[in-house]
This record gives sequence, C-alpha cells and structure tokens, in this order.
Amino acid sequence: MRASASPLFTPSAADRSSRRAARKALAEARRTARDQRPTRRDRGQGDADGAELRAAYPVAGRPGAASARGGKVKLAAHRMTTAIASGAYPFLAEGGLGAHGIYIGRDVHAEGSFCFDPFELYGKLDGFTNPNILLAGVIGMGKSALAKSLALRAIAHGYRIYVPCDPKGEWTQVSSALGGQTIALGPGLPGRLNPLDAPARPHGFDEQDWTGEVRKRRLMLVGSLARTVLGRDLHPMEHTALDVALDHTTATQQRTPLLGDIAQLLGNQDELNHVAGDPTAQLGHAAQDLAHALRRLIHGDLAGMFDAPSTVSFDPTAPMLSIDLSRLGSAGDDTGLVLAMTCASAWMEAALADPTGGRRWVIYDEAWRVLRHTALLERMQSQWKLARGLGIANLMVIHRLSDLLSAGDAGSRGRALAEGLLTDCSTRIIYRQEADQLAATAHLLGLTGVETAAVAQLPRGRGLWKVAGRSFVTHHALHPAELQLFDTDARLRPVPVEATPARLREAA
Ligand SMILES: Nc1ncnc2c1ncn2[C@@H]1O[C@H](COP(=O)(O)OP(=O)(O)OP(=O)(O)O)[C@@H](O)[C@H]1O
Ligand SMILES: [Mg+2]
Repeated sequence: MRASASPLFTPSAADRSSRRAARKALAEARRTARDQRPTRRDRGQGDADGAELRAAYPVAGRPGAASARGGKVKLAAHRMTTAIASGAYPFLAEGGLGAHGIYIGRDVHAEGSFCFDPFELYGKLDGFTNPNILLAGVIGMGKSALAKSLALRAIAHGYRIYVPCDPKGEWTQVSSALGGQTIALGPGLPGRLNPLDAPARPHGFDEQDWTGEVRKRRLMLVGSLARTVLGRDLHPMEHTALDVALDHTTATQQRTPLLGDIAQLLGNQDELNHVAGDPTAQLGHAAQDLAHALRRLIHGDLAGMFDAPSTVSFDPTAPMLSIDLSRLGSAGDDTGLVLAMTCASAWMEAALADPTGGRRWVIYDEAWRVLRHTALLERMQSQWKLARGLGIANLMVIHRLSDLLSAGDAGSRGRALAEGLLTDCSTRIIYRQEADQLAATAHLLGLTGVETAAVAQLPRGRGLWKVAGRSFVTHHALHPAELQLFDTDARLRPVPVEATPARLREAA
C-alpha cells in the first residue's frame, strides 16, 4: 500500500481542526506503508505466490558453465541454406547491395548505408536485366530531390547526365552548378533546336550505313510529330508522302534539312505529285492532313523553336545537359510540351547514339505529363530497349503507378507500351502513395501486405526500393549543400515582411 493522501487535498475552506486531522491521517498512512515494505531478507526467501513472477536467473545472467561464456558450451554443428535460415530465424534484415556505387542514404531496416549503381549491378545481381529505373510517389515527397542527388553523385562517378524532359525548369540550377548546359525552349526565347540535325558518325559505322540510319531516324521523328498532332496512326499514303518529301528535301538542300522544308513540300500538292512521279495526283491530296499537322511546329505555338538551325551544338564532354520546357504546356494542353519533348529528345538521342560515348543517365522528370501520347511512348520504349546497347540508364519519374494505366484503355497500344516501360525497369522506387492507389500499386509491382502498408506510411525522403525482386526501405540522405540546391519548397515559405511586393514598391 502506498501513501497517497496529501495535505494539498485539504479543501481550502476546512477549519484548523479538520486540517490537523488530515495531517495526522497522512502521517499514519506513511507509517503503515513503511512498516509493510518487505525487508531484504524477506525478498531473499520469497513466497509461494510470487514464485512464477521471479526472474529465472539473476540480472548478471546464468551462472556457471552453462552461461555460454568462456567458450565452454559445445553445440553440434548445424548447416542450412540462407533461405531456410531466414524462415527459421525471420528477424533478419537485407544485407544491402554492397558498398559499390552511388551512396543514397540509410537502409532503414539494416541500419547500414545503402549504395546503388545500376551499371555495377548489371550482370551481378540475379534478375537485374536492365539499368532502367521507375520512381513513383505523391507530390512533394522528394522524388526530384532523389533524381537530382543521383545525377550529382553519378557525375562524381564519371557518368554524364541528360534531362530531355524538365517541364518545371528545376534542373537548370543543378545543371549550371555542376558545369553543365541548359537549353531553354519556349515562345520568345532565343533557344532553337533542329531535330533533323545529323549527329557525328560514330566510330566504326560505315558512311553508307550511317546515312541510312540518319534517314530512318528523321522519318521516325517526323512520323511521331504528325501522329501526336493528328491523334491517330498515319495512313500508308501518308507514310509514302513523308518518305518522298524527306528524300527530296535532303537531296536538294545544301544544308541540314528543316521541318519547314518538309512541311512546305507536303503542302504543295502539285510539286509533291511531280516529285513523286505520281500521274494520278493522289499523293498530294493524301498528304494534306500531314502538312497541316506539321504546320503547328512552323506557324503555331511552337513556331521557330524547331524550324531553324540549332543555336547550340551538342557538347559530348559536358557533364550534364538539361532541356527546360517550363515555358510550354502551362495552358493545360500538353500537346505542345509533348511535341517539344519529342523534338528535344530526338536531338538528344541522335547525340546519345554513340555507343562509345560512355555510361550515361537519361532522366525524364514529371514523365506522367507525357504518358498519354503513344507516339512519344514508342520513342521512350525504343530508348528503354536500347539502354544496354548504348550504356544508358533511363530514370522515369511519375506520381502513381496508375499514371501508366492512363496511357490507354485495357488492351490498347498505349497501355501495352506503358506497361512495357514498367516491365523494362529492373529497379522500382516507390515513395508514399495515396490510400486509394495502394491496391493498384501492390498489384502492378507484386508488393507483399507488409510492403503495401509501409508504402502508405513513408515520410518525405524515404522510399521502398524494389531491385530485381529484393526490397529495401531506404532513407535518402541529403547533404546541406544539396538541400539548398534542390529546394523546391522556397515559394511555400513565408516571405519576410521587408521583401513583400508592397514594401519593395515603398522602398523604391
Ligand atoms: N531526403 C530529404 N531530406 C530532406 N528534405 C528533402 C528530402 N527529399 C526532398 N526534400 C525536400 O522536399 C522538398 C520537395 O522535394 P521534391 O521537389 O524533390 O519533391 P517531388 O516529389 O519531386 O515533388 P513534385 O511531385 O511536386 O515534383 C524539397 O524542398 C526538398 O529539399
Ligand atoms: Mg518533382
């Protein structure tokens, strides 16, 4: 029994005699409690009631030879596979992917550092069939910060970084801090890219083979642009018209052809029929839709950007190159953004085609914005497939896995292409997902119940890494300098009073 009465509980209005009685009662209770406390000897003897509550061994552990100290215990050797050991003793954490590669942060379960390098893992890790990476998570969880850290640290490992899709323009600062190049494209900006630029012939390519390769790339590009604007596949006669227009333009121009040259020939029915040697005059007529589709790039909202000689030349030695598309696609229609990205990535891919160009990363930030466009998905898919041959790791950043499903209805080509991109990513990094997305995420990635529950709770900077079927929960560690460079929350913080527009006007 413990003394719990206190003079403080005496009501303030109590008279002197009742206070004295309360103090007496408290003193009495304290005395009784002290008398009932067991003595040291009592505790040593114990009693029958408390026997099962007593610890079996003293705090210092089991005494004598059986204490397992001093190497005196001999147990029979028992061998088992690690698969059985992890079942027999399930409280094991993953050993990590080794110390080679780019430092990411802390493996939350193993309490060790976590390093990752898709080029290092390729060929060493069972089931790691390609270096491509998918990164998904809700807004503001640190996806771009992770991609930027990977880029920054990869440069230190000698890799080069290309960012063909930067719809928020947030990579410009990173690129300039790392000594890279940025090309900003948008109405009124001086940057121009000619997507029909022919890259330098890679080492070991025959002159004739290379001319054929360049022609094929140009045809694919103009076809993709037309398909994006038309929202449908091209008819056979439209393919022929494109072929004819491209070949004629290449043959007659002394310089690198421009999209405007091709569109002009497609729009001139008589000339196209004459060039094609088509006496029935059907080709010129069939090419009218095509001519109008290309017009958007020449006279529409993208006028000038992709229809002039490039203002920048590709510098293969620059550590980083990003294409800032933040001035495009802000009006809710992403077609302009997709066309620009198609042209920009075609220009970049031409330069990336050199298999002797070293190991490179290609990062598509905010890729969810372009996933609905089948023509662009096709181009991305071919890059994904070529990744191993060219020494490229593609990193695609989206919000949720269902972004991939929005590429088309079940069974459609767009959907198949988007799902193919997921299949071709041996590394999937999942940042926090909304509760309504958990089931779809678990289904698409084959997550266990525990993993699914973890994904719902992940705080900022922490992600579930699925690397060729192995799982890690990793906290991305940011250096203070990186934190400052990658900060995208600045506009959400309160502005100091002296820097508000009203104060600045007053000061002026
Ligand atoms: N590991 C981290 N530790 C501390 N801060 C972080 C970490 N990761 C990201 N942040 C901070 O969180 C903010 C949001 O990060 P980030 O822009 O990368 O989010 P995001 O997931 O790309 O968002 P969005 O979907 O809007 O593009 C940034 O200001 C960044 O500095
Ligand atoms: Mg981001």
